[in-house]
Amino acid sequence: TCSLGSYAKEQGILYGAAAKHNTLSSDSEFATIFSQECRVLVPENDLKWEVVRREPGQFNFSKADWMAEFAQSNNLQLRGHTLLWHHYFPQWVEQTLGADNAEDMLIEHVQTVVKRYAGRMHSWDVVNEAVDHESSRQDRLRTSPWLSFIGPEYIDLAFWTAHEADPEAILVYNDNGLWWDAPEGEAKKAAVLQLLETLRSQGTPVHALGIQGHLLGHEMHQMNPEKLRKFLSDVSSLGLEIMITELDVNDHNLPDDVGLRDRLVAEAYYNFLSVVLDEPAVTTVVTWGLSDRDTWYSGWGRKENARPLPLDRDLNRKLAWRAIVESF
Ligand code: XIL
Repeated sequence: TCSLGSYAKEQGILYGAAAKHNTLSSDSEFATIFSQECRVLVPENDLKWEVVRREPGQFNFSKADWMAEFAQSNNLQLRGHTLLWHHYFPQWVEQTLGADNAEDMLIEHVQTVVKRYAGRMHSWDVVNEAVDHESSRQDRLRTSPWLSFIGPEYIDLAFWTAHEADPEAILVYNDNGLWWDAPEGEAKKAAVLQLLETLRSQGTPVHALGIQGHLLGHEMHQMNPEKLRKFLSDVSSLGLEIMITELDVNDHNLPDDVGLRDRLVAEAYYNFLSVVLDEPAVTTVVTWGLSDRDTWYSGWGRKENARPLPLDRDLNRKLAWRAIVESF
């Protein structure tokens, strides 16, 4: 069959998309197309604290388990997103977390969640968005409860805990803002590289960098292919694999005309992917959704008119679909 997943596979690339439990479980037309186009499924929110830890003192895996089953019965690999982030905590966690218990809570969470899916997870985003290029700290780590209550070693602790709970999974450090140069890209790239170097030199079990890739359609001139290539090769020299983990093209500042907008979105996909896929360390491409029917941008920007993904709202293939295939 010809699908994004099969075209990618021919080039040795694993392609898949993020999706929400609520969509996949209620929209069978979408679920069918999803399993045809994709080889990997990433629960968009269902493994986050806001879902798994909604209630104090318990873990709720019902949605994530459903996603894992869906993946298994449709021959999809499963990617875990995400164990630690600086926001989107349930209120009770925010109220409870402190210097006296943060380390225990981190270990309990990472151990419990990773063990549950051990042997079934292709990879885990262990730490998400820990770097802030505007941080006043020398290491540019972002303010978060983990950093304040545990210190910078929370990152190493999270990776070791995840590794012990599932020695098979590829452990990923995932971050945003790496695709472009201005305003944040260069400082961000330098800080992320520094973090990865430190982790690798300490022997922390980090195996891959996740580049989110939320492209801005109207800012593609800010992508500097040479600097991006250099960054990818520096990351690869550390012995790390690279995954594009949350690719989409935000069209909120592109022209209203749908035909023109679709062309610009497709071009953005092509221009980005043709650069990053030249780097042999890049193994995986995940779009942040598959169809415009189910994009996080429908919450803002152009809302019901957002067209950031490979398929339109009726699940028809757009120019973006073709551009992605051509970039493989
Ligand atoms: C987003 C989801 O797409 C939304 O549905 C949710 O409301 C908020 O989170 N970077 C990340 C993802 O690492 O987890 C975010 O996902 C998008 C930005």
